[in-house]
Amino acid sequence: MSDQADMIWWKTGVIYQIYPRSFQDSDGDGVGDLRGIKRRLPYLRELDVEAIWLSPIFASPMADFGYDISDYTAIDPLFGTMSDFDALLEAAHPHGLKLLLDLVPNHTSDQHPWFVESRSSRDNAKRDWYLWRDPAPDGGPPNNWLSEFGGSAWHYDDTTGQYYYHAFLAQQPDLNWRHPQVRAAIYEMMRFWLRKGVDGFRVDVLWHLIKDSQFRDNPPNPDYQPGRPPHEQLQPLYSADQPEVQQVVAELRAVVDEFPDRLLIGEIYLPLERLVAYYGIDLSGAHLPFNFALLSAPWHARALAELIDRYEAVLPQGAWPNWVLGNHDRPRVASRVGAAQARVAAMLLLTLRGTPTIYYGDEIGLRQLPIAPDQVRDPFEKNVPGVGVGRDGCRTPMQWDASPFAGFSTVEPWLPLADDYAQDNVVNLSAADTSLLSLYRALIALRRRQPALQLGDYQPLAAQGDVLLFRRVGGGSSLLVALNLGAAPVAVLSEQFSLDGEILLSTFMDRAGERVGATLDLRGDEGVIIGPVPDPIV
Ligand code: GLC
Ligand code: MG
Repeated sequence: MSDQADMIWWKTGVIYQIYPRSFQDSDGDGVGDLRGIKRRLPYLRELDVEAIWLSPIFASPMADFGYDISDYTAIDPLFGTMSDFDALLEAAHPHGLKLLLDLVPNHTSDQHPWFVESRSSRDNAKRDWYLWRDPAPDGGPPNNWLSEFGGSAWHYDDTTGQYYYHAFLAQQPDLNWRHPQVRAAIYEMMRFWLRKGVDGFRVDVLWHLIKDSQFRDNPPNPDYQPGRPPHEQLQPLYSADQPEVQQVVAELRAVVDEFPDRLLIGEIYLPLERLVAYYGIDLSGAHLPFNFALLSAPWHARALAELIDRYEAVLPQGAWPNWVLGNHDRPRVASRVGAAQARVAAMLLLTLRGTPTIYYGDEIGLRQLPIAPDQVRDPFEKNVPGVGVGRDGCRTPMQWDASPFAGFSTVEPWLPLADDYAQDNVVNLSAADTSLLSLYRALIALRRRQPALQLGDYQPLAAQGDVLLFRRVGGGSSLLVALNLGAAPVAVLSEQFSLDGEILLSTFMDRAGERVGATLDLRGDEGVIIGPVPDPIV
């Protein structure tokens, strides 16, 4: 167990991701904005999250809904103005809320002035800020690299007769991170926001920044499954996760460390063993390389237990863990595991060791909304239709109340609303003592009160059948977490360890105070947290 020095906000608190287009519209254009977020700060305060991370709010042609940036230090008018941003930051801090921005350093928009210059001629000063290559001898792309969003990752540009590289859309050309001026420009932009008082960054596709200097072909992926997105046909051996990226990660961290108490998170989709390299040598890298393992984990006790053990085992000395249950790129948790297990998933997320990240709307059980083909907005789904990669379904508007358009907007929102919003909304769920939202609030509150949940060690106990059991130990206390991942009731008996204690919280929210002895009865889809029986008051 760690000491006082570990009581750092990003270790003890919960991070909440806001997808700004979908959180709260304030100006009646059907798209969420900064004033809308500001209006909802009391909700976030009550939920008691520590920090909000905003997906990109910068000037953008919106080819990838803000992940294509044309000016890193301007707010897109769709989201408001710089004074709206300043007002949000000023309002968040006194609420005790930290504000994290999305940093997208791997690529810009093709409309960014840097790229407009770069593509204008082969001898432009910014030519090498991007990755330009001659065509292959047959005139085709320089190598076999594939875009994550379908097709070749190379786009031929008539003006200068070369190809440029784009890991995502052709409207998102990759910057050349081997170029010192590119690094300096991005670091200066980070300082612009850090000086304003922003509390840190989530760095987009951090593992992509450096590519092989020789641009060698990627090898075929022998495990490719037909029906999966086409870019998975190749192993990204040379196009991502290059050793030299570690230097860049350390530099990004050094910029953040020029300011007190700031946070660097990395978005990294890699196996756990490779992911943890992004903590950096002697923890000089990202504070939190996002751990996305739960997004694709089979929902079985043993699989989850093995995953947690594997992660705990590969964490470098002193590295702080973290867990993510949902984000704007993956199907909603309520649809992945089902509504009943979504409550168990919430308990797991908020009792594991490490910083939890909650995706907006997961706390009210938003489901993946099926999107009709003519309503698709996501460029990934448009380019690679029908294989289930569409991200619109997890980006639908937040459901605040039962009024038309769910209190999100006064007009038809940019993406459809789920038709359950008249029941499943913040107002109704707040009023119901045992709703999923009430459970989230209770879990976060319990985490705040229990040092063992915030900073305690993780001790695996058992994973048998549908039951996952572990302990969190620290701060002079020991809590037991018992999760039933199945729909059938189970009785947990144990000779190996003690179940003695008192139920602090059940996912059904109706057993607090119940004494537990030699056996623990769990209903289907139930999780409980058991704490020591309090000393009698004398
Ligand atoms: C990241 C973002 C995703 C975006 C992609 C390209 O994976 O999370 O939404 O499309 O990067 O910027
Ligand atoms: Mg708006």
